[in-house]
Amino acid sequence: MTKSIITPVTVDDYRYLAEKRLPRFLFDYIDGGSNDETTLAANRADFRKFCLKQQVMRDVSHVDTTTSLCGQSASMPLALAPVGMAGMMAKRGEVQAARSAEEIGIPFTTSIVGICSLEEVSAASNQAFWFQLYMLRDRDIVLSLLERAHKAGCETLVFTVDLAVAGMRHRDFRNGMLGEGIKSRLAKLSQIILRPHWAMDVGIAGKPHAIGNLTDMIEEPVGLDAFKDFIDSQFDPTVTWKDIQWLRSVWNGKLIIKGLLETDDARQAVDAGADGVIVSNHGGRQLDGVASSISKLPAVTAAVGNDIEVYMDGGVRNGIDVLKAIALGANGVLIGRPWIWAIAAQQQAGLTALLNTFQKEMAVGMALMGVNRIDDLHPDLIE
Ligand code: FNR
Repeated sequence: MTKSIITPVTVDDYRYLAEKRLPRFLFDYIDGGSNDETTLAANRADFRKFCLKQQVMRDVSHVDTTTSLCGQSASMPLALAPVGMAGMMAKRGEVQAARSAEEIGIPFTTSIVGICSLEEVSAASNQAFWFQLYMLRDRDIVLSLLERAHKAGCETLVFTVDLAVAGMRHRDFRNGMLGEGIKSRLAKLSQIILRPHWAMDVGIAGKPHAIGNLTDMIEEPVGLDAFKDFIDSQFDPTVTWKDIQWLRSVWNGKLIIKGLLETDDARQAVDAGADGVIVSNHGGRQLDGVASSISKLPAVTAAVGNDIEVYMDGGVRNGIDVLKAIALGANGVLIGRPWIWAIAAQQQAGLTALLNTFQKEMAVGMALMGVNRIDDLHPDLIE
């Protein structure tokens, strides 16, 4: 269905514009989940199961969305989640996102498998960013990445634990997108030809398209195949909590464990010395059939919320969703697809506008709930 969008406002508006701008295989790489995409759908649908309470006749003349996330002051309890290959969706995408996050005053997390290197992201903004790591088989490479992250001014490491192996993302297979054969190359080319703006802006002007942090390990041009081969060969499925203890011993900054859903695992993260956890199912891209992040959040905050910071991601699409997660005990939330759609559609300016909308939605929501401060949001305000 063709819509006329003069000024995009919601996440859905940006998704719609991103779909029109990106070659199909890239749009599907972002949009899709694993297997039947039931968890992907649940992440979104389950937010509707929680209702906010409206409290009236209170003085709400001083609504303030500011907070602190992992020791960093933030204009609202929101951060940009790590998204691999963001620089394929918009020209030097990680740089644009880091700048937008700085403008708004929230953390940006750069993925180990981003297109821009740690150094390029660091040079782009004055604000400290977060760095997301997967464990690689070669621990010397891990150590050198940590060293580079530290030198680049990063104080918070986000270690992702829900990708022992890559999930079954059928959309990436369906149209031959994962495959270097002539058939899939032609399919990709035919989709790129239909997207000349992307081809000029990102395909040509957005080079180099290497995985910036791992240029020695993954050859350019980066295709989903090269990327998947890398995951299969280098991602370490033997990782256990002992490795988190090792990571803790070699990383002096803050450590956040991303991608757990169960209270036992959250407790293990506390014991391993983590400063925070992110309740997450990788945006429905890993184990399909697992419960939504928002439905798992209350138990995790009850179990470890007094000991460490608890974050969540998956299905957050507006400021009201953020308020629900915070009221359920989260210190903050992260968004993945929304920020990618926004920069794919309208570059840094689009992302900044979207983040402003999130903040306004939060501020208006808080006023209508009768609360002035983020700390005043608590489970009694949810039904
Ligand atoms: C991701 N995610 C992700 N997570 C991570 O730890 N490292 C990564 O490199 C990536 N890459 C990635 C690529 C794409 C295209 C998507 C959509 C997601 C997961 C991401 O950090 C986050 O957990 C989810 O995106 C949150 O769900 P929403 O906000 O997309 O619904």
